[in-house]
Amino acid sequence: MSGLDGVIAAETALSDVDGEAGRLVIRGRSLDELVAHCRYEDVLTLLWTTLFPESDGEKPLAGELGAARVRVFEYVRTADAQVLALAPVDALRALVARLEDGTDFTTALRLVAAPAVFTPAVIRRARGLDAIPPDPGLSHAADVLRMLQGNAPDLEQVAALDRYLVSASDHGLNASTFAARVIASTHAGLTSAMVGALCALKGPLHGGAPGPVLDMLDAIGQPDEAKPWLEAALARGERLMGFGHRIYRVRDPRADAIKVGLEELGRAGRLDPGRLHLAEAVERTALALLSRHRPERSLQTNLEFYTALLLEALGFPRQAFTCVFAAGRAGGWIAHAREQMLRGRLIRPLSRYVGPRCSEAA
Ligand code: ACO
Repeated sequence: MSGLDGVIAAETALSDVDGEAGRLVIRGRSLDELVAHCRYEDVLTLLWTTLFPESDGEKPLAGELGAARVRVFEYVRTADAQVLALAPVDALRALVARLEDGTDFTTALRLVAAPAVFTPAVIRRARGLDAIPPDPGLSHAADVLRMLQGNAPDLEQVAALDRYLVSASDHGLNASTFAARVIASTHAGLTSAMVGALCALKGPLHGGAPGPVLDMLDAIGQPDEAKPWLEAALARGERLMGFGHRIYRVRDPRADAIKVGLEELGRAGRLDPGRLHLAEAVERTALALLSRHRPERSLQTNLEFYTALLLEALGFPRQAFTCVFAAGRAGGWIAHAREQMLRGRLIRPLSRYVGPRCSEAA
């Protein structure tokens, strides 16, 4: 029961995670198919099918999402300087918390647009640069990169970010999605659900892992330093970031999807080959050491390991990786929150009391 391991806590028609086969299916379509053919807004259209009166699954949401990015940028213009100076994920949490709460389609679109617009704005502010307003005519991923870089991204960069956002869009009842569903089950509103989800995502055991993956690669430095460094970390009782998963007993299929994106960036000359070479050596060594460290538990590469390299190659600073994760997962959080509101009940489990009993009155 610890950590609700193995407990089914919700029914969903959104995504299915098969931990034994290493398969992720979103609305009946495999991750492989989605990353090969879909932009983020296409997966959003798929995820939100029938959850709002405005989303029938046929009408693409790209135009509405672009317009929502423009509307949400107004909140950047009026943002408190102290909030913008916070660490990126804390700034994102505070900026999202300022948005109106509600359960409707407009609120939902605003919440998906928010991390896509706020993240580049916060990063640019930390670099002493002005935020760039959205261009509603661009695809979601292209606009995020343009707002970050200040110029038009190339096609390979856009494809790589789309691949990441699609891979991160939904993943069963992970900790942040569960947090969103618990909040939504009280009918508190989608903004409240998303703020709670962001708080859960932030932790290094969940969406906070990819920044520390880069710290680990930097500390290792050279492929032949991987073994002694990783052995020492395990001997200190540390967890290796980017490895292990509650559900997967085989390699996380999202890790492969992201690796393909890295290889495409490499062919386009957008990735330092030495960085990928180091990461591959660290992965090989970590997997060998983890199988000896915990032979009874299959600890494999998860989404976050190659995500770190991909987001670095796209120009995101490691402090903001969790915000980019939120930009992808927002679509799934909102879908789950709506599904919970429409079809679920108040989530209210029991706890087993293990404290002292009242002494009987004398
Ligand atoms: N490195 C070293 N040891 C590990 C790792 C790891 N990455 N992962 C698990 N273990 C060990 C645990 O310490 C535990 O040993 P213990 O009982 O002696 O403490 C044992 O393996 C069993 O762990 P699990 O039951 O698999 O752990 P759980 O399901 O609670 O945790 C988690 C899953 C949090 C992802 C874990 O594997 C971890 O901490 N990984 C590193 C952080 C990380 O990469 N997070 C991103 C996850 S993916 C995502 O959220 C999108």
